[in-house]
Amino acid sequence: MDIMLKRRSIGPLMAAAALAPGIAAAQGRPPLTRIAFGSCAEQRRPQPIWDAVLAYRPDLFIFGGDNVYGDFNRADAVDLRSAYDNATMIEGYNRLVRTVPHLAVWDDHDYGLNDGGADFPYKAAAKEEFLRFWRVPADDVRRTREGIYDAHIIGPPGMRVQIILLDLRWFRSPLKRTDERGAPGKERYLPDPDPAKTMLGNVQWEWLADQLHKPAEVRLIVSTIQVLAEGHGWERWGNFPLERQKLFDTIRDSRAEGVVLLSGDRHLGALYREAPAGVYALHEMTSSGLNQAFWAASERGPNRLGAIYPMANFGTIDVDWWERTVTLSLRDESGGVRRRVALSASDLLFSR
Ligand SMILES: [Fe+2]
Repeated sequence: MDIMLKRRSIGPLMAAAALAPGIAAAQGRPPLTRIAFGSCAEQRRPQPIWDAVLAYRPDLFIFGGDNVYGDFNRADAVDLRSAYDNATMIEGYNRLVRTVPHLAVWDDHDYGLNDGGADFPYKAAAKEEFLRFWRVPADDVRRTREGIYDAHIIGPPGMRVQIILLDLRWFRSPLKRTDERGAPGKERYLPDPDPAKTMLGNVQWEWLADQLHKPAEVRLIVSTIQVLAEGHGWERWGNFPLERQKLFDTIRDSRAEGVVLLSGDRHLGALYREAPAGVYALHEMTSSGLNQAFWAASERGPNRLGAIYPMANFGTIDVDWWERTVTLSLRDESGGVRRRVALSASDLLFSR
């Protein structure tokens, strides 16, 4: 390691390195080092991937949306409820939920409507089912505000992982439909530069900015739909380019370091990197799906790292606080690594 790299590494993760492991453990809860992440689990089909997820022995699992396929169009949300009931009967799913600490956020199919947004009339019913299935405590703030966005900071000082779970459904404005359905690059939607359109809604935007000001060394921003991906016309932040820029600006203005983006939804896995102006290079891991993948998928990926992996997959985030590395891995149904990018502390910091 050269001197330049050492100097650039001074920052939040440096503080982590200064804290001996034994001391950190003595402070209470040890830091997270193994986080797993997945999305798109169709409850009517086998889900053999859970054996590999459990074998990885995650400290934490993040359900990144489409955790069941429960689309519905009735006020009683009975189809969503029965989808959740079916999920509890899947052995691996059930074992993970019973034995591994986990967090969850919804995407369109556990919200209740394919590509659904703010105008979905039954979203309150979907929220009730979400709160019930995920056993959200009676005093949880999600019960008293709109949407299901949520955040946690886990770990001792100097070794904190912040997990920010964004709600991309409750507040989202209508998308601009394509004029050429299925055409490569414009399959379903077109970018809409209308400044009135929102991904998160004002309240969630303000909350996100507040969260990014809280102290943490690594920050996982879970956006169920892809943030960085270009080259396709399915759901992605690029459909509201001003909102995508606002996300980059919010990260820049907060000076939040250690940000890694996680997304799902797409029925394929991939890694992406992009360096917005004024921010360090952002990395995104898309993991989808746990059993819903589209092996015949093909799309352009101008800011993608390597090829897509369109078979069943889950993602892992290995944090080595002592080496000061964060390794993002896309793993197959056997747990084998199919795509990987290793980030050093200096990759996750603003230049100084
Ligand atoms: Fe989705």
